[in-house]
Amino acid sequence: MKKIVVFTGAGVSADSGISTFRDADGLWANYRIEDVCTPEALKRNRALVVEFYNIRRKELLSVEPNPAHYAIAELEKSFDVEVVTQNVDNLHERAGSSRVTHLHGELMKLRSERNPNLIVPIEGWEQKLDDRAEDGALLRPHIVFFGESVPMFDRATQIAAEADVMVVVGTSLAVYPAAMLVRYARAGVPIYVVDPGNPDVSMIRNPITHIKERGAVGVPQLVEMLKNEYL
Ligand code: APR
Repeated sequence: MKKIVVFTGAGVSADSGISTFRDADGLWANYRIEDVCTPEALKRNRALVVEFYNIRRKELLSVEPNPAHYAIAELEKSFDVEVVTQNVDNLHERAGSSRVTHLHGELMKLRSERNPNLIVPIEGWEQKLDDRAEDGALLRPHIVFFGESVPMFDRATQIAAEADVMVVVGTSLAVYPAAMLVRYARAGVPIYVVDPGNPDVSMIRNPITHIKERGAVGVPQLVEMLKNEYL
């Protein structure tokens, strides 16, 4: 059975109504990264950081997966599929994808500020400022902030190296090391990009097919193409 690795970014959730980061109306047009997405910000202004993720969590609970998420989940009926996502939302899982690796953390989880392995699910959207973990330390969003290590990257590169086909949906390929994942596909493995914009594909050495569509339109189209091509 062919192995398809699907590498996604914020664009795959755009059609669910969740802002991307670098589009004109993106998150980073409205917030400064250094205020809400760095370890220093958490120390300096914990309330703003906790509020930023509470707002994003509340939004996540109000949206649904879109046809792109469902088409990716449907691929599992015909192929050996693994999703590697930069997204912290749980829309791939809610659409039915069963193997999802989150590179940048998960919005619906918190962790101990002392022990990064002490991770707990959060019920609802609100983390209260003084919520503590079992080890007594304050809790923090289970998110990889800028300047922090990406512990799942090594695992993700192993997954990418197993791909017979790589699909890249809705990422500008602007953030490292995540963007390097496209370099771990074996030579000759075809890479299909679904994005209405122009992600930075300059480091991709493999054959590329760019479907210049929004995810909700382009991913279902691609799934049909892959079935015709590989089944
Ligand atoms: N369907 C598919 N792709 C879309 C859509 C859509 N409806 N709308 C926008 N896009 C594309 C854009 O053209 C762009 O290529 O999604 C991509 C979004 O890029 P970014 O906003 O940079 O998001 P992403 O690549 O996921 O950012 C990577 O940066 O801030 C960090 O940790 C954060 O995981 C994030 C990382």
